[in-house]
Amino acid sequence: MRRRLTELDSEKLNPTLNMRFKSYLFKEKITLETGGKQLLESDGGILKYSSKKPRPSCLRMTPILVWIVILGVFSTVLLRSAIPVYLNVADEKFLELKKCPACFGVMLCPAFLMGDIVPETWSRFKAAQLLNTKNVYFATFKNKHVVLKKLGHDPKLEQLDQHILHQSVGLLKNPTQQISVSAAVRPYTQQNVWLDCVKDLEGNGSTLVHRLRVFDPSSQDISTNDLLGSAGHFKGSEMFVCPSQRKLNYIENEFVANNLGLYRLTCLYNLMTLLLLNSEPLVFQTFPANEGWPFPIYYGACGRVVVEEYVGPNLAQWLPQASFEERINAALQMLNIADQFTKGTDGFRLYVTDFSLYNTAVGFDGVLKIVDGENIIIVDLEKIRKDRPENFDVPYVSDNAGCEHLPSDPHCMSYSEQDMCNRLYNDHNFFAICRELFSPLDSFGLVNGVPDHILKRFPLILTYQTDCYSSSIPGVRESAAKNLISIYKKILPIM
Ligand SMILES: Nc1ncnc2c1ncn2[C@@H]1O[C@H](COP(=O)(O)OP(=O)(O)O)[C@@H](O)[C@H]1O
Ligand SMILES: [Mg+2]
Repeated sequence: MRRRLTELDSEKLNPTLNMRFKSYLFKEKITLETGGKQLLESDGGILKYSSKKPRPSCLRMTPILVWIVILGVFSTVLLRSAIPVYLNVADEKFLELKKCPACFGVMLCPAFLMGDIVPETWSRFKAAQLLNTKNVYFATFKNKHVVLKKLGHDPKLEQLDQHILHQSVGLLKNPTQQISVSAAVRPYTQQNVWLDCVKDLEGNGSTLVHRLRVFDPSSQDISTNDLLGSAGHFKGSEMFVCPSQRKLNYIENEFVANNLGLYRLTCLYNLMTLLLLNSEPLVFQTFPANEGWPFPIYYGACGRVVVEEYVGPNLAQWLPQASFEERINAALQMLNIADQFTKGTDGFRLYVTDFSLYNTAVGFDGVLKIVDGENIIIVDLEKIRKDRPENFDVPYVSDNAGCEHLPSDPHCMSYSEQDMCNRLYNDHNFFAICRELFSPLDSFGLVNGVPDHILKRFPLILTYQTDCYSSSIPGVRESAAKNLISIYKKILPIM
């Protein structure tokens, strides 16, 4: 019996299936068979049973079910092969190992390639790569939650490659040759490498080592370069702000120590790539979590991906559910971080130029860490003492005079790079933290939400908060911050 696929029948089918029945593909005559028995024939979109006898309705459903199963299997296979559903973190496209040594390192490559690093939550999906402009992924590594970072959005990474390529053209023996960034990073770095004589274990100055020399990537003369225009003005990372050879050596020593076994020049190529792109891994390695710095643990890198500890939700996600006690504890830790960075270590101060609720995360133990290390300026106090720039020993009181839209946004934040590099003391960290803690948005609930019994017991608390937020008198901001630290410590046990 011939049976035409009616409007009604077609509506009963799954819409995708229905569409496919009507498609050009199915205008070809096809025959379906199961276990050697012919079930269904199609000719130009008309389905025909090959049997002459009328069939019971359950049997009539069978071909449709077979089609559904076939199409299901077919689309799953297609999706998994042609359009991968899951992100493969061992994939060259993700790691970009071919760009090494213009990459961040290779120490974690065995873990990536052996499948020890497994993406989790939404990061498992390939589609996440398209939507993830920040290039930050979540994964597990040996049962620990970690974050994978490519250290820049795609245009920024492209700009880095272009900069290295364009700058190396003049340094090549045959400048017309087409080279890759992995080759170009070598001459680019070597023009800034010198041989330093370091003391050996007996204290004799006899070992020669390659070292990076301080330079300014934006000052290099690219006007002689034919490719000028697409390269544009290239600033490099925050590590180039307040340049100092002692600072560069300090960072280099830590980086080389963390890449034991690697040829020193290769280390310097990796170091150069990070210096140009994003100094976060250098900051996290030089001021490590295990020495009490409030940064995520740095695990290592493979190609153009670094792996660091996953701390927890950022403050913007965490604060709305936090109790008053938890918020006081967070505020106390932020003020302590401002103090720790300002004190610094070994004659270096750290200034965070982008303290924000998004860049600070809260661990499961309630401990706060700065998870975005891209915007940290390191200042060498010994260099300031040696160079003695104007007003170097006059403490600098921060304000927001540098804001572009100051009249319309009096609560904005700005900082002066010059007064970080040239002053022995700058209260920037306290200023930036207090701007966040006591802003009119009151995300911490400390401006309008301090309970009356606390205000009664600590009547100066609001004065200190205001002083830290906006004082312009030298010394007042830091002193207010220290008083708040002491008050918050007293509040916590009575909550
Ligand atoms: N180590 C980390 N632990 C937990 N969350 C993190 C970590 N690093 C980044 N994040 C999250 O990813 C977001 C983006 O990362 P970030 O390093 O700040 O990138 P960007 O420089 O693009 O702002 C952060 O706001 C934070 O929520
Ligand atoms: Mg950030």
